[in-house]
Amino acid sequence: MNKITVKASQDYDVLIGSGLLADIGKYAGEVLGSRRTMIVSDDNVFDIYGEKVTKSLQDAGFEVSDFVFPSGEKSKSHNTLLQLYDWLAAENITRADSIIALGGGVVGDLAGFAAATYLRGIDYIQVPTSLLAQIDSSVGGKTAVDIEAGKNLVGAFKQPKLVVADIDTLSTLPEEFFKDGLGEAVKYGMIRSEALFKLIEKGEVKEHLEEIIVKCVDIKREVVENDEFDKGLRMILNFGHTIGHAIEKIQNFNGLTHGKAVAVGMMTLTKAAAKHGMVDESVNDRLRRCLIVNKLPYHADISPESLYDNAITDKKRFSDDINIIICKKVGEAEIVKMKLTEFKKLLTE
Ligand SMILES: NC(=O)c1ccc[n+]([C@@H]2O[C@H](COP(=O)([O-])OP(=O)(O)OC[C@H]3O[C@@H](n4cnc5c(N)ncnc54)[C@H](O)[C@@H]3O)[C@@H](O)[C@H]2O)c1
Repeated sequence: MNKITVKASQDYDVLIGSGLLADIGKYAGEVLGSRRTMIVSDDNVFDIYGEKVTKSLQDAGFEVSDFVFPSGEKSKSHNTLLQLYDWLAAENITRADSIIALGGGVVGDLAGFAAATYLRGIDYIQVPTSLLAQIDSSVGGKTAVDIEAGKNLVGAFKQPKLVVADIDTLSTLPEEFFKDGLGEAVKYGMIRSEALFKLIEKGEVKEHLEEIIVKCVDIKREVVENDEFDKGLRMILNFGHTIGHAIEKIQNFNGLTHGKAVAVGMMTLTKAAAKHGMVDESVNDRLRRCLIVNKLPYHADISPESLYDNAITDKKRFSDDINIIICKKVGEAEIVKMKLTEFKKLLTE
């Protein structure tokens, strides 16, 4: 088992390895005070892992209840959130009790936001079961729900007490969602580690899965420790996201899923930056080859004008400026502040 300690406003461990779910009760018992906890999960994940996690927690002396909602991004909404608040109230949850977020990024973001806000904050543990959640969303304390105007527009920073990433759970993750995690893994390589990128561009991700997850989490640790509240360095994690979020929104969250939209976002921006002489063509080519080898999309049939219109509602916009993340080299990201007019030119000309 690998253990990475994140030093943030609240320090916590990220455990990564095989067979960890069976011992979740033991790990939870080490960091939680009260022996009352609520599992929040989606129906796909709970059907497969709910019983195992519940039993392990009960064996460790926990009193356990569960709140299970329909899987998918559409559930990361204020409707589900309000149902969850009502359920927590009906269960008489106190500030001493906790939430266990068992699932992918949707579960983690929603359950984390409930933990950040219910009773002004209760403890929670992330138990990520998708590749995307294991390498990215479960670490760093960003929690959120989506609203009509855009993804993740309502949220809070709330670090978990612990993250338990059992890589065995990825064996049941459908391939299309595995690809979403892969999109984010490519991002980590592009922004911070050429060594990681090299592992992925060979197209042998499954052979090096644990190593790749550990490397991604360690990059996230480093970035979060430097800038927990997203005022500077942490913005580099948004490489590909401004356009990725725009694509998800244009397609009404029914088209490309998050990591694939991020893949197209990284490529669209890198291609535009190369065209404008901001990035070397070789970086553009290498990124495209890496996406192709890993069977990730690199183009979406959407007009640049529509991409621009939908990208500027992103959280990275400040008045007439927007922060764009550009990788001039593989493994090195830069935050570039642009006027909206320049950004429009970059995308559309
Ligand atoms: N908080 C952050 O820092 C952060 C970072 C990146 C992404 N996100 C968010 O993460 C979300 C995407 O996460 P995701 O890709 O995990 O999506 P998801 O949570 O919807 O999971 C994808 C699908 O896989 C299923 N699933 C998950 N684990 C499974 C398993 N082990 N076996 C079988 N099925 C399984 C889910 O039920 C779902 O149908 C987006 O909402 C995105 O905004 C958050």
